Amino acid sequence: MIPSDVKATLSFSDGSPNMDLPLYKGTIGPDVIDIRKLYAQTGKFTYDPGFLSTASCNSTITYIDGDKGELLYRGYPIEQLATSCDYLETCYLLLYGELPNPAQKEEFVARVTNHTMVNEQMQFFLRGFRRDAHPMAVMTGLVGAMSAFYHDSTDINNPEHREIAAIRLIAKMPTLVAMAYKYTVGQPYIYPKNDLSYAGNFMRMMFATPCEDYKPNDVLVRAMDRIFILHADHEQNASTSTVRLCGSSGTNPFAAIAAGVACLWGPAHGGANEAALNMLEDIQRNGGVAKIGEFIKQVKDKNSGVKLMGFGHRVYKNYDPRAKLMRETCHEVLDELGLHNDPMFKLAMELEKIALEDEYFVARKLYPNVDFYSGIVQRAIGIPVPLFTAIFSLARTVGWIAQLNEMIGDPEYKIGRPRQLFVGSTARNVKPIGER
Ligand code: SDX
Repeated sequence: MIPSDVKATLSFSDGSPNMDLPLYKGTIGPDVIDIRKLYAQTGKFTYDPGFLSTASCNSTITYIDGDKGELLYRGYPIEQLATSCDYLETCYLLLYGELPNPAQKEEFVARVTNHTMVNEQMQFFLRGFRRDAHPMAVMTGLVGAMSAFYHDSTDINNPEHREIAAIRLIAKMPTLVAMAYKYTVGQPYIYPKNDLSYAGNFMRMMFATPCEDYKPNDVLVRAMDRIFILHADHEQNASTSTVRLCGSSGTNPFAAIAAGVACLWGPAHGGANEAALNMLEDIQRNGGVAKIGEFIKQVKDKNSGVKLMGFGHRVYKNYDPRAKLMRETCHEVLDELGLHNDPMFKLAMELEKIALEDEYFVARKLYPNVDFYSGIVQRAIGIPVPLFTAIFSLARTVGWIAQLNEMIGDPEYKIGRPRQLFVGSTARNVKPIGER
């Protein structure tokens, strides 16, 4: 953080003493006003539910310029990473700050590959769930349960433990997601195969059966790998902030990541891809493109509670760059599968076109986000809708770990403990029940 030569002066109209607040500059992005001493010096808190104007930390990992629609992982534009790198290179970048050279990549891929199996006991957890359990319920349980298996990597303050826990989580998430899927369809689990790529191995564990050989389709594997890259990290979003706050208590990495999985499940966050596809299917069922106008009217009616899922973003007030890349991937996958006339994709593009020309959305700077097209691609690949967010959690695990490790590695970090504006009852006495 670079101290700014600009100061902020806080003054009060009731004559309370003024207070000078230091400002800090980042390398890019908005400056921050340092309020760490505010309460001690004024007895007052700031108030910012939803943290619309609050920086919770300083970070070197991901930068988003919401106005420009720009996303950088460690300074590299997402467009370049999505077209020139694969997911494990991106994992290396997010974890260690630089893209790997060939030798570093080979060593990292080998380490991840050799941790893709899970303990055989894990399958007995799944048996406790109903077959129709939502995959995110299963994933929340399985990821948290990992802390019961890897006692040699649960001390978050030990750098070696953090390192091996990171490798285990990145390596095992695809295996766990595929197991959660196989359990719901009643098929046997497929073990990882070490001679396949990360995304190819995931596709095989998802779609292979013991009855015949499975040959991953290279276009679909590349699309899956790109979906992983696009979802890998996104600065201090709700689930990442959850992981940081949870990890700040010193809990083990698996428990902190499980908290991130639970938060991502919400429809306002990672659950939006499932909700966006369900929304498109509803419109399709009720008449398709001809009914878009009626649906948009519902969205504009605040009392309807209907939102255009996959649209809008707390930070992007322009087109989410990931949505553009996801739309391209849509084209590639649908062409590969001979589905270029896929009605759902046509409906989505028509809905996007109408929304982007509609004053309601333009005025509120509501653009498609990463979730708008990701569901269509995953559905075309054969991923069942309830599994979309589980795949989002698979991809985001590396971002959560990188952010968690950055926090724990900062000697200044403290346990997170926000305060509040109390508007409840002042002290009062309990009356005997007969007098209440
Ligand atoms: C992700 O934070 C991240 O980085 C998250 C994420 C990541 O990679 O980690 O990018 C992943 O979560 C993407 C977002 C996925 N969510 C959805 O697609 C769900 C639909 N979108 C909305 O719920 C909403 O846009 C949010 C939650 C994403 C953002 O909400 P904000 O920033 O709190 O904005 P807001 O709700 O205050 O909206 C501003 C206005 C409001 O109208 P007014 O009160 O000004 O009249 O826009 C309206 C909102 O009602 N609005 C929408 C809308 N999103 C916002 N109206 C209709 N449809 C929508 N989708």
